[in-house]
Parts: sequence; C-alpha cells; structure tokens
Amino acid sequence: MIRETIVTTQDRDGRVHIAPIGLIEEGDALIIAPFRPSTTLDNLRANPYAVTNYIDDVLVFAGCLTGRRDWKTRPASRVPGAVLAQALAHAELAVTRFDDDPVRPRFRCRVVHEETHGPFRGFNRAQAAVVEAAILVSRLHMLPMDKIEREIAYLGIAVDKTAGPRERQAWEWLMQRVAEHRAKAETMGES
Ligand SMILES: Cc1cc2nc3c(=O)[nH]c(=O)nc-3n(C[C@H](O)[C@H](O)[C@H](O)COP(=O)(O)O)c2cc1C
Repeated sequence: MIRETIVTTQDRDGRVHIAPIGLIEEGDALIIAPFRPSTTLDNLRANPYAVTNYIDDVLVFAGCLTGRRDWKTRPASRVPGAVLAQALAHAELAVTRFDDDPVRPRFRCRVVHEETHGPFRGFNRAQAAVVEAAILVSRLHMLPMDKIEREIAYLGIAVDKTAGPRERQAWEWLMQRVAEHRAKAETMGES
C-alpha cells in the first residue's frame, strides 16, 4: 500500500525541504523511495530523519509541484525535522536502512513518534482528483500529451462537482503548468 503524503526533510544546516512523496507501507516500516536526482534523497543522506505529514489540504501538493514550496512548519517533537502547519496528523521517522539504486534508492524508516492534530472529515473527490493531477504534472516530461489531456478531462469532472475553494485554487495552479507544457510542446512541434 502506498500513502500519498507530504514528506519534510532537513539538510545539514537545518533548512527544511517539503515534497509530496508516496510512502510505501511494509509491515511496521515506511519506505521513502525518491527518484534521482532529489533534494529529499540528499537530505536523508545528510540527516537520516523525516516527518510524514498526513494532510487533506491539496494546495500543498499542487503548490510543491508548481514551485510554491514555502509552507509554514514547526519543529518536530522527537527528531530533527519539521511538521507542516496543516497536518491533520504526522509521524516522525528515523531511517534504519538505505538501499542504494541508480534510479530510485529506498530509505526504510521506523516510526519514532506520532501525533494527531485535527479530525479527518471524509473523502472528497476533488481532493483525490488534485492528487492524481499533481502526479500527472510531476510526469509531464514522460507522458504523451493526448494521455494528459484525456486524464485531465476526466479528473476535471470531480473538481467541477465537488471542489471547495482550496481544491479549485490547487487545480488552477496545476492547469497553468499543464498549459505551459502544452504551449512548449506545440512550439517544438512547429519548429
Ligand atoms: C502524490 C505524489 C507522490 C509522489 N511520490 C513520489 C515518490 O515516491 N518519489 C519521488 O521521487 N517523487 C515523488 N513525487 C514527485 C515529487 O514530489 C517531486 O518530483 C519532488 O520534487 C521530488 O523531488 P525533490 O526531493 O527534489 O523535491 C510525487 C508527487 C506527487 C504529487
């Protein structure tokens, strides 16, 4: 099972890095598997701790994918790490094993500490659609434009029907990025 969360890590100087990451559950362990190159990867090598933030604010997912990484955090309780202000809950992780790989190394992590901050208020289809669209945006360079257009058209239905203001804003940020990519692809097609 993979849980889509926001992972925060820190470099040697304590600078916080925020990135959407799919955490792989393996028994009691959580695996962080960053594709190279990655700041999350570099930070985990320098400071083998992370915080996984369980959030329903999809603006953070869309923001990180569109260059808006400056979200408010506070220090974690038990590890050198940072907790997002929006976290409904978070887990503080310590790396117990590093499996290197030329494409996608894996950090096996143990949960050191967990806290809950707010209630889970149920599923929202627009939130799920934004997370799917954020994944598409993270793969724009690998996917054919017609597949992107098809999936965006389908995901957009859930956004139209069920979004609140934050989901609409998140969707707009992602669609702006898709439009930029489309324009670039068209220019390259012409030249
Ligand atoms: C829902 C979601 C899950 C993601 N999961 C991963 C992942 O497991 N590994 C990864 O390298 N990137 C993942 N990405 C893409 C990263 O968030 C993005 O490429 C990020 O900038 C990672 O690079 P960084 O560590 O340099 O920030 C995911 C993106 C989204 C929207």
